[in-house]
Amino acid sequence: MRKPVIAGNWKLYKTKNEALALIEELAPLVKGVDNVEIVVAPVFTVLPSLIGAVSGTGINLAGQDVFWEDEGAFTGEISPRMLMDAGASYVIIGHSERRQYFGETDATVNKKVKSALKGALVPIMCIGETLESREAGETFKVLEGQLRGGLEGLTATQFAPVIIAYEPVWAIGTGKTASDEQAQEAHAFIRGVLADLYGKQVADKTRVLYGGSVKPENIKGLMGCADIDGALVGGASLKGASFASIVRYGE
Ligand code: 13P
Repeated sequence: MRKPVIAGNWKLYKTKNEALALIEELAPLVKGVDNVEIVVAPVFTVLPSLIGAVSGTGINLAGQDVFWEDEGAFTGEISPRMLMDAGASYVIIGHSERRQYFGETDATVNKKVKSALKGALVPIMCIGETLESREAGETFKVLEGQLRGGLEGLTATQFAPVIIAYEPVWAIGTGKTASDEQAQEAHAFIRGVLADLYGKQVADKTRVLYGGSVKPENIKGLMGCADIDGALVGGASLKGASFASIVRYGE
């Protein structure tokens, strides 16, 4: 009932030619996959040059961030309308690296989610606890705060298209994945908070992705968990073969 989403976050990697080569490698490997939504998020500058390459492949494009105004004197920013114009239909919002290095807060995440929805982009809103919070027993408190803060003011209807990505900060780029049990526990908690906010029916339809050292070797176990509906993949999305085998986890 929830179509899985496998999204690749390319972060600050791949120039135009490298990105094109990766799509050309990936496209034949995921050909015919129609039971999974496939998304890749390159840097902004290469988006337009990938439109032709992804056309007809089932691969969708995402931005890695977005600003909340349509236009204006906001040097360095990009608006939902401009992202759509560049070929994106999804956008990652509130990634922990943006929270950690670029001052992203739940309040800015909230503005960005609202502006993405207004622009008809599908937001992939990221949340996740640091190792410090986990060790202090504050995982659920952190996740609930990020959810309520990031989604503040959205009605159930407005929220409906939003995808949530649970990315424990301690599992990102460290090779240290959350165990299936740890991930499932967090995902079930997240769905519970969404049910409290928007009702069980909406929560049951929301895709909640796991991110943090997802690889071909661990995707099957993660996807076997009741509340895990896909993955947000960093490092392993930078190679066509490994990303394709994550996309094809069910085969
Ligand atoms: P890694 O898969 O490299 O751990 O990165 C996860 C991530 O941050 C995806 O957004």
